[in-house]
Amino acid sequence: MAEPVQEETVPEETVLEAQGLSKTFAARGGRRGALRAVSDVSFTIGRAETLGLVGESGCGKSTLARLVLRLIEPDAGTVRFAGQAFTGAAPPRTRQMRRQVQMVFQDALSSLNPRMTVGTNIAEPMRLQGIGTERERQEAAQALIALVGLRPEHADRYPHEFSGGQCQRIAIARALILKPSVIVFDEAVSALDVSIRAQILHLILDLQQRFALGYLFISHDLSVVKRIADRIAVMYLGRIVEIGSSEAVYRSPLHPYTQALLSAIPVPDPRRMRVAALGVVEGEAASPLDASDLCPFRGRCPHRMPVCDETPPALLTTEAGHSVACFLHHPPRAAAA
Ligand SMILES: Nc1ncnc2c1ncn2[C@@H]1O[C@H](COP(=O)(O)OP(=O)(O)O)[C@@H](O)[C@H]1O
Ligand code: SF4
Ligand SMILES: [Mg+2]
Repeated sequence: MAEPVQEETVPEETVLEAQGLSKTFAARGGRRGALRAVSDVSFTIGRAETLGLVGESGCGKSTLARLVLRLIEPDAGTVRFAGQAFTGAAPPRTRQMRRQVQMVFQDALSSLNPRMTVGTNIAEPMRLQGIGTERERQEAAQALIALVGLRPEHADRYPHEFSGGQCQRIAIARALILKPSVIVFDEAVSALDVSIRAQILHLILDLQQRFALGYLFISHDLSVVKRIADRIAVMYLGRIVEIGSSEAVYRSPLHPYTQALLSAIPVPDPRRMRVAALGVVEGEAASPLDASDLCPFRGRCPHRMPVCDETPPALLTTEAGHSVACFLHHPPRAAAA
């Protein structure tokens, strides 16, 4: 399991480094203007480390995942694996580097090919990469089928014959077959029942230890992220507003938005929980169409100060490994302005 966080840790071996990623889309639904889905996002993920990414629906989590996988190209910023640039790499290099990072989606069934057997589905990334003979690929798939807790005969069945949890195991096996260094889980357990979810989380953690995988684990559900993440990044309207060790973020959340999210956890009534998650505070939500760099939470923030309407808050480190973009925690001069 996760090592206890030391104050002065030697930097872990970084497997993924995202720097200044930004992506703007044309607004949909007949609205004019541009929508900043991801805005200047930076983070690193170490070997065998899980970075949890949380934030409410529409804040840009999946767009960030797609940027990391280069399923879409960023307007700005870079992605590096083990120090090597992925963004901007030439096609042959890109193809090779694609092995480094794989993704597991929420809806595993629709991410699998319904006309292929489970074994062939799992082996498919090897075939696409031109690796091994058909027999070698099927053998590799069989080994993974056992590893993710399925039975050998499952290789010859079709995805629709499996439950949601089993489909997630198949998707995880397929994500592993190219021996990646990083896996992105985008709401991968969000659709599962609580007991199945616990089993899949257990599997995910077990595989991480076995292969020293770096994980970007995306969820709108803080309680899930708390179980699995070593560090947590909190995203709001395309920006990371707080990032730090799970322990620090849960023990002393610094950003008013993180505090609102956390205050939502123990509320048993799901309706009240949602209200709390969307902001226990009053005021209008900022629009992702808002082009300013000012604090995106200021329309809902109970601590809003004049400086919040004048100056963009930078993401600054307040203590070892814990950073926040909020003037409440910036140097006194800025906060008092
Ligand atoms: N291809 C696209 N074109 C236009 N807008 C998009 C596109 N993809 C995502 N968006 C918008 O970007 C924002 C972030 O979406 P997304 O990354 O899916 O958020 P999340 O995964 O956190 O729910 C949303 O407002 C969404 O509507
Ligand atoms: S920067 Fe200002 S408006 Fe934004 S969260 Fe902090 S106090 Fe609130
Ligand atoms: Mg999403």
